[in-house]
Order: sequence, then structure tokens, then C-alpha cells
Amino acid sequence: MVLKVNNLSKSFNGQNVFEDISFSAAAGEIVCIRGKSGEGKTTLLRCINNLEFPDRGSIEINSLYLYKEENGQVKHASKSELQSIHQEIGLVFQNFNLFPHMNVMENLIEAPVFLKKMSSDKAKERALELLEQLELEGKEHSYPYQLSGGQKQRVAIARACMLNPSILCFDEPTSALDESTRGQISKIIRKLSSQGMAIIIVTHDNAFVNEIAEKIITLSEGKITIETTRRP
Ligand SMILES: Nc1ncnc2c1ncn2[C@@H]1O[C@H](COP(=O)(O)OP(=O)(O)OP(=O)(O)O)[C@@H](O)[C@H]1O
Ligand SMILES: [Mg+2]
Repeated sequence: MVLKVNNLSKSFNGQNVFEDISFSAAAGEIVCIRGKSGEGKTTLLRCINNLEFPDRGSIEINSLYLYKEENGQVKHASKSELQSIHQEIGLVFQNFNLFPHMNVMENLIEAPVFLKKMSSDKAKERALELLEQLELEGKEHSYPYQLSGGQKQRVAIARACMLNPSILCFDEPTSALDESTRGQISKIIRKLSSQGMAIIIVTHDNAFVNEIAEKIITLSEGKITIETTRRP
């Protein structure tokens, strides 16, 4: 399993968001997390991506603990472990979060070069390869405001894939898309999963869930139910 979430609980100001939830994702598996607005889907994704600290439980990514509960205390990974873990996980935000003052190429190479994971030349080479894979050839000098919603999303996907993570997370990937762009995103997600990436998708789009999910996690009143579906 590339992702193991065990007995995870999270509250804000004493108010439980979810409690004691456990699930896993295997390499290449497409997992959808659904639930009504405010049930805690984004919070769960943020915990997995080290953007929120859980109250209890553990998260294991590729055999490395991001958080581990020991004697009732949640322990965070060390700085060096975090560096390795960050490489293994990518997140595509709902509003894509591209840097508006940077062109596509600069958006893609910023983190890998800044984190010294790649030389600038190597990062540019990887970026061009991903832009081609995501049908964005020739867009490397465009700024985010010059791109359509679907193109911005694909740039955000390319950016999240620069370090070839084992897990790629999406928050509401279809909410801003029309029908044909929606088809494009499911094609891309399937392709990434066929390359072995575990995909975690938060969505309230039930049609999309039915189309793409291999495992469905429903979050309701702080608890989850898990359903495994056939591979589409
Ligand atoms: N930083 C925060 N501080 C306090 N409360 C928060 C914070 N972030 C989220 N919450 C609360 O946690 C609960 C879950 O929020 P979350 O954004 O995870 O829901 P969601 O399932 O993603 O909803 P939606 O479908 O509307 O995106 C909500 O009640 C929200 O108000
Ligand atoms: Mg949300």
C-alpha cells in the first residue's frame, strides 16, 4: 500500500470534523472521497498533504510515517523524512493555485529547483515531457491568465507530477469544467493511474465517481464507509 491512514481524527476548536477513520490506497488505485459540503473532505486531503495536523492517528506514505501516534501523542516526521515524503505526494488544488506572475515553465520548475531536487536543465526537460503528455505543447511561455480553465488544471497536474510522486490528490477536479474537459481529465487520471500512481480524488460529482472510482469512501458525520467497485 502506498498510503495508509490509520485511526485519524481531526477537530477545529473542539469541534470534531472526523474521528477514527482508516483506509488505504494501493499503487495505481483510484480512490474517490465523497460527502456533503462541510463533512471534512478537503481537511482530510490537507492532512494527507501535510497542510493540516491531525489530533490523533497515523498516516504512512510509502512506508514512511508523516504522522505517527505514540503514547497518545501525534508525532510529526523529522525534517529529512518530510523531504522524502513531500516528493512522494502531489496535490492539485481546486483553484489550481498557479503562481500568477510566473509563466507555465516557471510554475513547473520552481519547486523542484528551489528544493534542489533537480538542476534547472533537468527540470526544464522534465517539464517539456509532461507538457507534451498533457497536450500543452507550446504553452511553456504562457502566463496563467492566458490559459483556459482546463489548461490551467493540466498545468497544475504537470506541476504536481514533476517529481513523479507515488500519490496524486485532487480536490474537486471537475467542479470548474464543462463536459468535454471533464472527459479529458478522466482520461488523464486513468493514464496516471495506469503508470502506477495512486489517485485520491475529493469530489461531490457522483457521475464522475461512478465513471472513475475503484474505491469509494463516503464521509458522513465524521465517519467513513468504504466500497470497492470494479475497475472501470
Ligand atoms: N482552518 C479551519 N479552521 C476552523 N474550521 C475549519 C478550518 N478548515 C475547515 N474547517 C471546518 O471543518 C469542516 C470541514 O471543512 P472542509 O473544508 O474539510 O469540508 P468539505 O467536505 O471539503 O466541504 P466542501 O464540499 O464544501 O468543500 C467545516 O465545518 C469547516 O468549517
Ligand atoms: Mg472541500
